Amino acid sequence: MTDKKAQLTVEGLNETLELPVYSGTVGPDVIDVRGLVSKGFFTYDPGFVSTASCESKITFIDGDLGVLLHRGYPIETLAEKSEYLETCYLLLHGELPTQAQYEEFKHVITHHTMVNESIARFLTGFHYDSHPMAMLCGVVGALSAFYHDSMDVSNPQHRMISAHRLIAKMPTLAAMCYKHRVGQPFMYPQNNMSYSENFLHMMFGTPCDPPNVNPVLARAMDRIFLLHADHEQNASTSTVRLAGSSGANPFACIAAGIATLWGPAHGGANEAVLDMLEEIGDVSNIDKFVAKAKDKNDPFRLMGFGHRVYKNFDPRAKVMKQTCDEVLAELGIDNDPLLPIAKRLEQIALEDPYFIEKKLYPNVDFYSGIIMKAIGIPTEMFTVIFATGRTVGWISHWHEMLSEGYKIGRPRQLYKGYPSREFPSRESR
Ligand code: SDX
Repeated sequence: MTDKKAQLTVEGLNETLELPVYSGTVGPDVIDVRGLVSKGFFTYDPGFVSTASCESKITFIDGDLGVLLHRGYPIETLAEKSEYLETCYLLLHGELPTQAQYEEFKHVITHHTMVNESIARFLTGFHYDSHPMAMLCGVVGALSAFYHDSMDVSNPQHRMISAHRLIAKMPTLAAMCYKHRVGQPFMYPQNNMSYSENFLHMMFGTPCDPPNVNPVLARAMDRIFLLHADHEQNASTSTVRLAGSSGANPFACIAAGIATLWGPAHGGANEAVLDMLEEIGDVSNIDKFVAKAKDKNDPFRLMGFGHRVYKNFDPRAKVMKQTCDEVLAELGIDNDPLLPIAKRLEQIALEDPYFIEKKLYPNVDFYSGIIMKAIGIPTEMFTVIFATGRTVGWISHWHEMLSEGYKIGRPRQLYKGYPSREFPSRESR
């Protein structure tokens, strides 16, 4: 447990409170404030800027050093030496798989990629131009209507089969949301394809042509999924944990995570980056938008820049930038009018005193949007891609919480409303 203590004195309280202090493997110590409620106090931390909500072994971030570890392995190493499904195994089980374990895991995931045919009818119920995140949110929540055989969240086997189903089916569902929008037939997963190759096939293949996926793009897609796999207790992961703490089924919890990720301050930023670049329209307009971003009275933010935790470069952005260069070179795309705007914005963020002082570096969403646009993925699908990659992180945290004991999440508040008051008759109001 601990031998470190924090002493707290409060005006008007005639005792010094002693609070336990715990140390992690790495990272800041935490002060256990659970004893305060019995002394008549709550802690106050809107936005949870300085709150550790749980204990976890999955991902570690050091925002000042730009470090991101998954089960101890640096993200740069995983991006270079691993692949998405192997990283999924690592996040879920805590160790990298042996060759035999990896083959078995790939076989299991591959053979859960199909969805119940009723899901196709469910999806076609959406208006064709529904936002794909609205469709994804709905259809993932609806999966809980199909798997009554594995919804006992206290059963580790049920939790694992649900994790496998979600990791396996997200690409299929994501591609189906896209196909419904473009009015093309849904494409069935191909069991002889790798995870990311299969996704691009289901997105862009049609029954009229044999499968034909560019391996460079499949590798780039795999790296995008890998770089989005997990990110500690971010807003959507915290939502999944909170939903899971009530005992809700895994599909409902992941649907809640998808809903949270949709916000432009979070996973919706990659779509917002492209919308912003389109709005800027030309390099000559950049200074006007940068001035808006600096103006405290203007709500405009530069999408794709800044981060709650990283006060150094987002390590994922570095790898994403390298992938961006590879994809643009492969596709021979250097005439995209948005690229010079993106490159000029990146240069400003690295040179302008405002951005340097506030430590606003390009984040993972800045480059991923440019890559996905180059691959041919429409902007409105960007956050769907993010949700597909992040599903393994969400379900790994959900599984960890349910495996290691938990209480239902129920924060308190600082109440600023009326004290108790008399009810006035309607005539007297
Ligand atoms: C993701 O949490 C995660 O891990 C998320 C994520 C993940 O993988 O799950 O990493 C994915 O969501 C990445 C972030 C994507 N969002 C965007 O790119 C949207 C644009 N960024 C901002 O909305 C903002 O940077 C946030 C929301 C990401 C962080 O907001 P915070 O916590 O308020 O940032 P901060 O406290 O560090 O801000 C410091 C200052 C503030 O000004 P002051 O109050 O000090 O005067 O910088 C300002 C902010 O107003 N600021 C910006 C800015 N981001 C912060 N000013 C202009 N443009 C920006 N983009």
